Amino acid sequence: MRLDVVTIFPEYLDPLRAALLGRAIDRGLIEVGVHDLRNWTHDVHRAVDDAPYGGGPGMVMKPQIWGPALDDVCGENTRLVVPTPAGRPFTQAMAHRYAAEEHLVFACGRYEGIDQRVIDDAARRMPVDEVSIGDYVLVGGEAAVLVMVEAVVRLLPGVLGNARSAEEDSFSDGLLEGPSYTRPEVWRDLAVPDVLRSGNHALIDRWRRDQALERTVRRRPELIGQLPEGSLDKHDLAV
Ligand code: ADE
Repeated sequence: MRLDVVTIFPEYLDPLRAALLGRAIDRGLIEVGVHDLRNWTHDVHRAVDDAPYGGGPGMVMKPQIWGPALDDVCGENTRLVVPTPAGRPFTQAMAHRYAAEEHLVFACGRYEGIDQRVIDDAARRMPVDEVSIGDYVLVGGEAAVLVMVEAVVRLLPGVLGNARSAEEDSFSDGLLEGPSYTRPEVWRDLAVPDVLRSGNHALIDRWRRDQALERTVRRRPELIGQLPEGSLDKHDLAV
């Protein structure tokens, strides 16, 4: 998979080369390019933004800069992702779909966003998603790209040491993951639940499922209503 990011703050994306993602790059599992949008400016001020038509606060990023930048960075098999608080919510299901793409290009807007014609024009040639990582407003799309890339890359085969970690994490079955424990058995007078030391794996699976259900009902009750039909068994319904 290839990932490209266009931004006015290339150094903001340095963490892409650290830790898990850095290892995926070193091992040839992903290729990453980070591009400074100002390379596509021609004026001495290297201006990327201008006042909004219709008035109002803030600045809008100029189409004459973004257009050529995306022409150069996007290819035949690109999906363009534009992070914006006005986008569709990013979900684990989208992370899985993105993990199957050949080439993702992320266009980071700042200020009040990018001139809408840049997105509408790109959509004539490639799939384009305007995506939000949550109901809060960041200063720009860069932090959102770090979040999305991490969620996508950990799903690629060979990136996580243990494939079961990705299969069993929160959301993979529509529920939040329950609590985890390691040694020691008692810490600051808090004991690990007995069932986890019982060696009875049927019982442990049942307990984990119950914990996941209880936690989801308490913290994210709306997720219960979104479970696919038939995904609750008769033991679940007792919880
Ligand atoms: N840019 C600013 N806020 C954002 C958000 N919540 N999600 C994605 N991109 C953003």
